[in-house]
Amino acid sequence: MKRQIVIAGNWKMHKTNSEAMQLANQVRIKTMDITKTQIVICPPFTALAPVYEVIGDSRIHLGAQNMFWEKEGAFTGEISAGMIKSTGADYVIIGHSERRQYFGESDETVNKKVKAALENGLKPIVCVGETLEEREANITLKVVSRQIRGAFADLSAEQMKKVIVAYEPVWAIGTGKTATPEQAQQVHQEIRQLLTEMFGSEIGEKMVIQYGGSVKPANAESLLSQPDIDGALVGGACLKADSFSDIIHIAEKLQ
Ligand code: PGA
Repeated sequence: MKRQIVIAGNWKMHKTNSEAMQLANQVRIKTMDITKTQIVICPPFTALAPVYEVIGDSRIHLGAQNMFWEKEGAFTGEISAGMIKSTGADYVIIGHSERRQYFGESDETVNKKVKAALENGLKPIVCVGETLEEREANITLKVVSRQIRGAFADLSAEQMKKVIVAYEPVWAIGTGKTATPEQAQQVHQEIRQLLTEMFGSEIGEKMVIQYGGSVKPANAESLLSQPDIDGALVGGACLKADSFSDIIHIAEKLQ
């Protein structure tokens, strides 16, 4: 059974509300012919509600880029899963390497966020991946396994059905350097094997594992054709409707 391809766009800290609405509208128009691929766009918090209005009843899903695990309280500057859900979003990116690198996220905080997201009906897209130093030291699998075990500690197989994993080698993010399809496939396969060990073969088989790191129209097909790569988390190339929609159309043709 082939898994559904999920293409998500991580807008990062880009786009004012009017720019966000314009981009979302262009993506909506350019993907009207899509019937199989799951599309998710993740604008900044401030643009979630306005973008939700724009995508309306199209097949585009909305996601946030981060969240806090507490429900509410004196946590100045933070946003809860319930608040995100109230904008119309149903996905949330958790543990992106930029969050781990610049904002002190750890496997433990990722785990708390994943649990709170699921409790509030948000589907987490959980990012894992090694740095260049770690790859060169030959500890990619060790690092990614630690991240996966940490992120999903105490979760049930039932809860895991709502989760997407994004493998994003840190050295490939925003650098123009992509993992080769073979390098990516190898790690995806290892992640799937670990998930099977942890949660059983049904989860292992059904889990969507996206690749992220300099995905663009020119390399999307070779990556998405790999047996264990089920989608892409796209940064730079999702900020232009043309390149994002090209990636989505490449995915559509492969299904
Ligand atoms: P990139 O970002 O496509 O610009 O490398 C991917 C990501 O950070 O999710």
